[in-house]
Amino acid sequence: MSESRAISSHTEMDAEKFKEPFSTYHMLGGDDTHSYAQNSEYQKQLVVSAEELICKLIDKHLDIEKPSFDPNKTFRIADFGCSIGPNTFFAIENIIKGVENKYKSNIKNPRIPEYHVFFNDHIDNDFNTLFRNIPTSRKYFLAGVPGSFHGRLFPNTTLHFAHCSTALHWLSRIPKEVTEVNSTAFNKGRIHYGGAAKEVKDAYSTQYRKDMDSFLTARAQELVRGGLMVLVILGFPDGVPPSESSIGIGFNILGSCLEDMARMGKITEEQVDSFNLPFYYPSPSELKALIEENGSFTLERIESLISPMKIEKPNLNIIIKVCVSHLRAVIGGVIEEHFGNEIVEELFQLHMKKLDENPMMFDEKYRKEANYFLFLKQKSHL
Ligand SMILES: C[S@@+](CC[C@H](N)C(=O)[O-])C[C@H]1O[C@@H](n2cnc3c(N)ncnc32)[C@H](O)[C@@H]1O
Repeated sequence: MSESRAISSHTEMDAEKFKEPFSTYHMLGGDDTHSYAQNSEYQKQLVVSAEELICKLIDKHLDIEKPSFDPNKTFRIADFGCSIGPNTFFAIENIIKGVENKYKSNIKNPRIPEYHVFFNDHIDNDFNTLFRNIPTSRKYFLAGVPGSFHGRLFPNTTLHFAHCSTALHWLSRIPKEVTEVNSTAFNKGRIHYGGAAKEVKDAYSTQYRKDMDSFLTARAQELVRGGLMVLVILGFPDGVPPSESSIGIGFNILGSCLEDMARMGKITEEQVDSFNLPFYYPSPSELKALIEENGSFTLERIESLISPMKIEKPNLNIIIKVCVSHLRAVIGGVIEEHFGNEIVEELFQLHMKKLDENPMMFDEKYRKEANYFLFLKQKSHL
């Protein structure tokens, strides 16, 4: 191969590495009543309930004697899928507390490193709101890193700690078979795989496996050897079908609202048939198998976190409002992208009305979702 040919193919390969081939779903920005910042108490409770565990496991697994963790060098932390705050700031402060305690416990050299924190989310994330709300009391340098966490975002061996909370149920794309009229996985009349044909669920789970594999491979390359990673992943216990859960029931009701709007001529039936939510909720066995198959990390701990938001009957009206606002903050952007923003207000009003009339999804017996806490250690260099 001539030298110029070699150089040009090298450049093409590099360009490939930085391409953004993924959908860029994002939370509702700003800080008004519909924003993610005002509607993320559920996620905040998860960050809080993981705090103690994170500190304990950092103490046990952070190899501060290894050269890559030398306290004279910068300690780099990244939060993947940080959104617009404030939860990401709580998570980072807690990680720093755990790391700092570990370094201080070294009697021979109780020196603590400087911290560089990277906030990652999709390019369309409202980074302005995130940066405006950065705590003034922070003990770290920071930078925003836009792009999909399903691909590489940092050079090799840059990070010491990776964190990702309630973001990995987002798929990088909707599996295309579920929107193809002639496919056996065509998901007509539904907006999710809960209660759908096996082929639909299989298409979603195949996409999830690919996405998780890309995520783990990218993070393994970016982390130093022995680097640590915390994941909080929304899923379902083994054997629990999402259709029998409040999440599945809520999505079915939302789907029926879209069908009503199609009957009223506000959107078309084709638009409804081609709309699918980009979420997959894995079971703990699936997660363990995926990590094992990927092979880049040892799974040091997996456990289920306490589920946020106990539903108390007298507060049902408030809970329904909170729940719809929360869903709007999370999927409002996806709805807008597919149907246009004219229908968003009416759709969520209708959703609230239907949930008021039929609040079955709020019954404790359907609260079957689980939030899995995973603590991983990078084991090899790829
Ligand atoms: C429910 S929010 C959680 C935010 C934050 N971690 C928290 O605990 O409040 C999920 C976030 O993940 C982001 N996200 C989803 N897929 C992503 C991807 N492929 N790359 C980067 N961010 C992603 C979304 O944009 C969103 O901000």
